Amino acid sequence: MSKARADFVVVANRLPVDLERLEDGTERWKHSPGGLVTALEPFLRAREGAWVGWPGVADIDIEPFTNNDLLLHPVRLSSTEFRQYYEGFANATLWPLYHDVVAPPVFDRSWWENYRQVNQRFAEAAAEVSAEGATVWIQDYQLQLVPAMLRELRPDLRIGFFLHIPFPPVELFMQLPWRAEIVRGLLGADLVGFHRPGGAQNFLWLARRLAGFEPSRAQVGVRSRPGVVQVGDRTVRVGAFPISIASSDLDQLARSKEVQQRAKAIRAELGNPRRIMLGVDRLDYTKGIDVRLNAMHELLAEGHITVEDVAMIQVATPSRERVEHYKQMREEIEREVGRINGEFGRVGHPAVHYLHTSVDRKDLAAFYCAADVMVVTPVRDGMNLVAKEYVACRSDLGGSLVLSEFAGAAAELTSAFLVNPHNLDGVKESLLAALEIDEAEGRRRMRALRRQVLTHDVDRWARSFLEALGTSFAA
Ligand code: ADP
Ligand code: G6P
Repeated sequence: MSKARADFVVVANRLPVDLERLEDGTERWKHSPGGLVTALEPFLRAREGAWVGWPGVADIDIEPFTNNDLLLHPVRLSSTEFRQYYEGFANATLWPLYHDVVAPPVFDRSWWENYRQVNQRFAEAAAEVSAEGATVWIQDYQLQLVPAMLRELRPDLRIGFFLHIPFPPVELFMQLPWRAEIVRGLLGADLVGFHRPGGAQNFLWLARRLAGFEPSRAQVGVRSRPGVVQVGDRTVRVGAFPISIASSDLDQLARSKEVQQRAKAIRAELGNPRRIMLGVDRLDYTKGIDVRLNAMHELLAEGHITVEDVAMIQVATPSRERVEHYKQMREEIEREVGRINGEFGRVGHPAVHYLHTSVDRKDLAAFYCAADVMVVTPVRDGMNLVAKEYVACRSDLGGSLVLSEFAGAAAELTSAFLVNPHNLDGVKESLLAALEIDEAEGRRRMRALRRQVLTHDVDRWARSFLEALGTSFAA
């Protein structure tokens, strides 16, 4: 297939589908993990666009292809690049650095060199598929050098960049040996977007300190009052655009008979406990899965709850499994699950039901509908879409959300039980309060949460970003 040129192009490390090689030697495409794809895919499918990204397997060349009407342009990564650019610089340097160094970032010069080379390849791929004057929307921390590289190749394009993870405090960002290069890379865009005004503000400070520009000083608003950096004859805008989900689609799915029946079946399979607590995450050390396990352990040990009364389900998608920080965390979590179940479980009543797997959308919606308390306790998270998905699924106004203050979503979901994940006593108190909430109070909170999530959906997010970028694709 020849490379058709598109007027609207998304560039992300991953394509929305991942190539999976099955044991019998056959291959199939499956949905890619993570919040970026959850958010962007429905938006792009509703428009005619192209998506440039990696197909999830190293060392293979795949021609551009169409998947459910979306034009996909695979970018090849070698196994060395997979190790150095993806597992290394993206996920063992930038990921921990941008998440408040909750794990120590590794600074390796060859990884950086590889990151630069791979970013150049993505820029070239984007330049090739973009029509004259097209809008190109570059996504996330893996591709921060692409805006400037692409501008060099194609000055005619309108270029946006959005960071899906937190942008760190300046003191932490300053640790990065290649800090000025990253700031200059991002300044190649016409609009640089973050989830929260604080991230935008940090970036503006760095544009002055590391790149020598004179950015505007006024406070950046949410979807309003973007900051401005004059870069030669170009004006770069810097704003805050909190991401969301396709709320009404999920609301509809959760109301379906099939999902409602599946939710009932989940409760029955657990022996119809009085309360169910639920965690759903990529298995990532930023998600604070250990925090909720520790809280559960102490609540059981102190006799506040029993395994007959309260069941906990933790569904964890495998993620970045060869990266050392992830290997260690998985071992610790699985050891703790084993310890809790060994100490408190009864025949037919384990304390924690732990599933190391990814589940499909219908099953996920059924888990959300079955759960009385959704536990979202990251130590740092750019947004956290799981919290919003839970709310979207609760048209019955049942269920309570316990949410970390350190997730971007906490700024919007203020009627949740907000917790500091570093304060174990506080987490335990909130879990107990959520488990025992008075029905009317629970409904009041859920109604307020739903108002927020249903009116601020992913379409609104994308439109507000693209409008600020000044593109006709906003409509
Ligand atoms: P992140 O982008 O860091 O993974 P988010 O909470 O923003 O975190 O997004 C995670 C996305 O992945 C959500 O759409 C969520 O439904 C999905 N997800 C997480 N865990 C699972 C799982 N075990 N099975 C299926 N989907 C999952
Ligand atoms: C987060 C990141 C995404 C990433 C996703 C899954 O949502 O912001 O950029 O794609 O996690 O991680 P993975 O490393 O499997 O792509």
